[in-house]
Amino acid sequence: MMASARIVAPELLDELHPDDPRARRSRRDLRRVHRAMGSLSILRQAIARLQLMTPPRRILELGAGDGSLLLRLARAQPAWRRLEVTLLDRHDLLGAETRKSYDQLGWKLTVLRRDVIEWVRQEPAQRFDLCITTLFLHHFDTATLGILMAAIAANCGAFVACEPRRSGVAWLGSRLIGIVGANAVTRADAVKSVEAGFAGQELTAIWPDSHGQWRCEEYEAPPFTHCFTAARRGVCA
Ligand SMILES: C[S@@+](CC[C@H](N)C(=O)[O-])C[C@H]1O[C@@H](n2cnc3c(N)ncnc32)[C@H](O)[C@@H]1O
Repeated sequence: MMASARIVAPELLDELHPDDPRARRSRRDLRRVHRAMGSLSILRQAIARLQLMTPPRRILELGAGDGSLLLRLARAQPAWRRLEVTLLDRHDLLGAETRKSYDQLGWKLTVLRRDVIEWVRQEPAQRFDLCITTLFLHHFDTATLGILMAAIAANCGAFVACEPRRSGVAWLGSRLIGIVGANAVTRADAVKSVEAGFAGQELTAIWPDSHGQWRCEEYEAPPFTHCFTAARRGVCA
């Protein structure tokens, strides 16, 4: 039902100034979109599938947006205490309330306002136990994903990505997203996101694992999500 090849195209939200009212509204829409997608429980299940032997202490989120999904995850993982979390995005989109909520949970927050490609090119200052990314990888073509995933593998013990699924159901969902009150920016970007989304074992094929050091899984998380997980052997059960 979907075209077989990915189509990666610039999204409107990435082109608007972060303070543009349409962009602000679209970021608020994303929170509702995550609820419609069931993102929090999909993310928790993906993390559980990593079977990490110890809870992570340092987390990196790439393309973190307003940080609200990770905050919901933080609230849902009471065993994760006193974490250090780095939120990387090309814009600093964190509201004061969100920052305060991370503080109240005892999570030490660093906001890294940086293009991810710049992060890849620089030697990252820190290593992370877990890298999380949601609705982010689909922005990049295969060649760029190769470079990005090599940097993630080099600097992180485990990785979870929850992305749009390139499927007929997700295609339909993206066209009906106005039902949750999404604005024109979100509606247009949802369609592009599904067209740039993933299917099959596309991310596994890009992940750099020539020596079998990683345990990887890639699967559909209905109704609209495609997950990829990777855990370095030695950090997972
Ligand atoms: C669709 S939003 C997803 C935000 C968040 N992960 C979520 O799921 O709600 C994509 C985010 O990626 C960021 N982004 C896009 N391209 C980027 C890049 N090259 N480097 C860093 N951030 C980028 C955007 O600023 C935006 O916040």
